[in-house]
Amino acid sequence: MTEVNTTPFDGQKPGTSGLRKKVSVFQKPNYLENFVQSIFDSVPELAGGTLILGGDGRFYNDVAIQTILRMAAANGVARTIIGQNGLFSTPAVSNLIRLHKANGGIILSASHNPGGPKGDFGLKFNGENGGPAAEAVTDAIYERTQHIDRYKIAKGNDLNLSDIGETHLGDMTVMVIDPVADYLTMMEALFDFDAIKNLLDGKRICFDAMHAITGPYAKAIFCERLGLPEDSVINGIPLPDFGGGHPDPNPVYAKELFDTMFSDNAPFFGAASDGDGDRNIVLGPNIYISPSDSIAVLAANATDVPGYENGIPGVARSMPTSRAVDVVAKDLGIEYFETPTGWKFFGNLLDAGRIALCGEESAGASSDHIREKDGLWAILMWLNILAARHQSVENVISDHWLAYGRHYYSRHDYEGVNKEKAEAVMSGLSKKLESLVGQSFKDETISKADNFSYHDPVDGSVSHNQGLRVEFESGSRFVIRLSGTGTVGATLRLYLEKYEPKAGDLKQDVQTALRPIAEIAEEIAAIKSTIDRNEPTLVS
Ligand code: G1P
Ligand code: ZN
Repeated sequence: MTEVNTTPFDGQKPGTSGLRKKVSVFQKPNYLENFVQSIFDSVPELAGGTLILGGDGRFYNDVAIQTILRMAAANGVARTIIGQNGLFSTPAVSNLIRLHKANGGIILSASHNPGGPKGDFGLKFNGENGGPAAEAVTDAIYERTQHIDRYKIAKGNDLNLSDIGETHLGDMTVMVIDPVADYLTMMEALFDFDAIKNLLDGKRICFDAMHAITGPYAKAIFCERLGLPEDSVINGIPLPDFGGGHPDPNPVYAKELFDTMFSDNAPFFGAASDGDGDRNIVLGPNIYISPSDSIAVLAANATDVPGYENGIPGVARSMPTSRAVDVVAKDLGIEYFETPTGWKFFGNLLDAGRIALCGEESAGASSDHIREKDGLWAILMWLNILAARHQSVENVISDHWLAYGRHYYSRHDYEGVNKEKAEAVMSGLSKKLESLVGQSFKDETISKADNFSYHDPVDGSVSHNQGLRVEFESGSRFVIRLSGTGTVGATLRLYLEKYEPKAGDLKQDVQTALRPIAEIAEEIAAIKSTIDRNEPTLVS
């Protein structure tokens, strides 16, 4: 064991989901060590406790994991449970923290950001409830990074992480486990696998693992457990650079899946997950389910699924997510909450039993089974609902809109924008907000315009500056916020939403339906002219 002197780095502030930087930044001497030591210094329970450790297999995962193991040993961690070859999906880590009553978990991932030597790397710390560390903890970690002057590390050779079993590093026990087994057991407890198996008998599905972490999980569930053919899982081998792809399951980056599902001979069901396995998308032949709608469908039909057959106490969504799930909650007579972007804000509501289902427009959904979003869970929820209702994806979503109306929804991202210019858009709109109420643009009149602050109903904490929202009397709205996960310049996100009641036209083209709102947003916020862009870089 040795102590190494170090000096602080600027900017080790965790964003929406952990610390994310270019691989080259993490490779700087002491960069990773400083951040990891700041975690150990800020979470003293880890000394003498249990740590869950694994990552999505991206480039640098193998190097970083050996450093973290040595630092865990030097910082007095009693036991580290690590996935074979250093691999775990994010939802698997959340489950294991809870299962082993661990004191925390470290997940090496930059989620859906690209990997490889020129790509991104990231590190997330989750607390003992299995969820992303609360803001008070990430603030303490950041504070520590600004004053750090030494870190502790054990000397020695790299541990062999390819063999399952128990070994030791100094006084620390290291358990190398199968990353999939406990996750599969948890899924078995929630879903009716026999019903799903019957549903899929003689049908084809296509799951795109995007060369990321869910490949082994999906093969265990779809091929081994449900008996589907091997080609049901595409891009199923995790690669350090995700095969050169961008492991974000959206129409642009999951093109292979979208082409398959929008072809003449499309399978019955299509789905994909992201780099670390916490996101999901669902498709049927020639139809893509908007993630906001997906959350609403899962809430409306939860009692069809064994794990939720007694009903759910409430639901939550992040503020920019469409309000489709609110309409379902009102109908069910259950509580519903609007939280800031990022999974950490759901933790208190889940722990307090106020909600059992939650999600974000960014392809994230999950329940109280863990404290992270869970890609394969959402996909199995859909399959279980299809099995219970004996319906196709298209029939389920059409029935949903007929029952509740439709929230047309889209997100326009402007990526890699000059930071000052992006901030100018935000401050320009902020200054106008108050004067907007009551003003009319085209057919819309503004009923509310504010900078979203969240008052956590469980612990009373307040989070300010969580996005600018402009709402219209018609129920339509737009929201603008800056991304907290990007690593290059700034990413500005514009979220557009238009509500169409159930008696209205439910089969419009999404971008066409939203065009008037997009035009009003541009007129009010002057995004394109301020950042010198003609078009968004990504429309999802
Ligand atoms: C994005 C998504 C957000 C999600 C996060 C982590 O954050 O918008 O919903 O929780 O990734 O997956 P952002 O870049 O917008 O801060
Ligand atoms: Zn992710």
